Amino acid sequence: MQLVTLDLDVTADHAILWHDDALHLLDQRVLPQTVRFVRCADAADTAEAIHAMVVRGAPAIGITAAYGVALAARVRHAASPGSWRDALEADLERLAASRPTAVNLFWALDRAREALDGIGEGEDPFPPLLALAQGLHQEDRAMNRRMGELGAALIEGPTAVITHCNTGGLATGGHGTALGVIRSAYAAGRITEVFADETRPWLQGARLTAWELVRDRIPVQLMADGAAAARMAAGGIGWVIVGSDRIAANGDVANKIGTYALAVAARYHGVKFMVAAPTSTIDPDTPSGAEIPIETRDPQEVLRCGGQLVAAEGAGAWNPVFDVTPAELVDAIVTEKGVVEHPDRDKIAALLAG
Ligand code: MRU
Repeated sequence: MQLVTLDLDVTADHAILWHDDALHLLDQRVLPQTVRFVRCADAADTAEAIHAMVVRGAPAIGITAAYGVALAARVRHAASPGSWRDALEADLERLAASRPTAVNLFWALDRAREALDGIGEGEDPFPPLLALAQGLHQEDRAMNRRMGELGAALIEGPTAVITHCNTGGLATGGHGTALGVIRSAYAAGRITEVFADETRPWLQGARLTAWELVRDRIPVQLMADGAAAARMAAGGIGWVIVGSDRIAANGDVANKIGTYALAVAARYHGVKFMVAAPTSTIDPDTPSGAEIPIETRDPQEVLRCGGQLVAAEGAGAWNPVFDVTPAELVDAIVTEKGVVEHPDRDKIAALLAG
């Protein structure tokens, strides 16, 4: 991975950039204080960038992996034009091992495998795989716009909302999932302001969601994650709106750690709970939330803040980075194919079949 600066007025729409014949990822580890890109030249660079959180957010991880396959194809074909396929398979496996929970990663790799099935050993696999990645990137943007409209229509408003983590342009191909709904609903006058959880330990809310909303001139107030229930009790919150990393076949939702607590508090306070996610986030092969693999990361991420040790020396830390919200706590799942209210197995199956 090579760190580079680009002469651009950088926005959230630049999270994933095909530039100068290489993949450039806006480095989300250091935003908003530092604006720089990471240049990826092959699958190893791309997998490392995903694992290290240079790029994050389920749809963005999937799109990035698709570009990673294209890069890998170029490298493998150049090294061995007549027999690149086996080496490329090892690259796909490396990309698959980069992060375990966001199913969009595996969905994108499956799309790449399908494309590979139609490419002969004597052909150059790079152009069709680059076209695939660029197509998935565009498609994700369009799906988010559609989800924005559908989600906004559910909000009677005008009301304030709570969101968690970052689900905006930075986490997707553009516009965002939950943040896309918030953008569309704000434009329609249905949302007055956004309360954003800071989202410990990576502070995606404080660093990334606040950056996107401030740039869009949408009023945002940050709060410590533990303040959300008290904010609901204070009144004026119509909806909690979040994204997802994987939705199981029965409608259980995996998302950033802290989402489950928000859903419990929302139900107690009579606040509606919306999940916005493309159908590529729904995993029909995972029967329920109990089978969703939950990533656990380095305890140092909790013990430190901004690289600085804040915990008492000698303390350990439990650092699961996602949790599962049971379907019964979800009022609506908004996808590009439509809205599922009070999700269950049959409704999710019907949505996917439609
Ligand atoms: O660990 P992260 O930052 O990749 O987690 C991201 C989230 O949990 C998002 O809410 C989720 O991917 C949906 S983003 C459109």
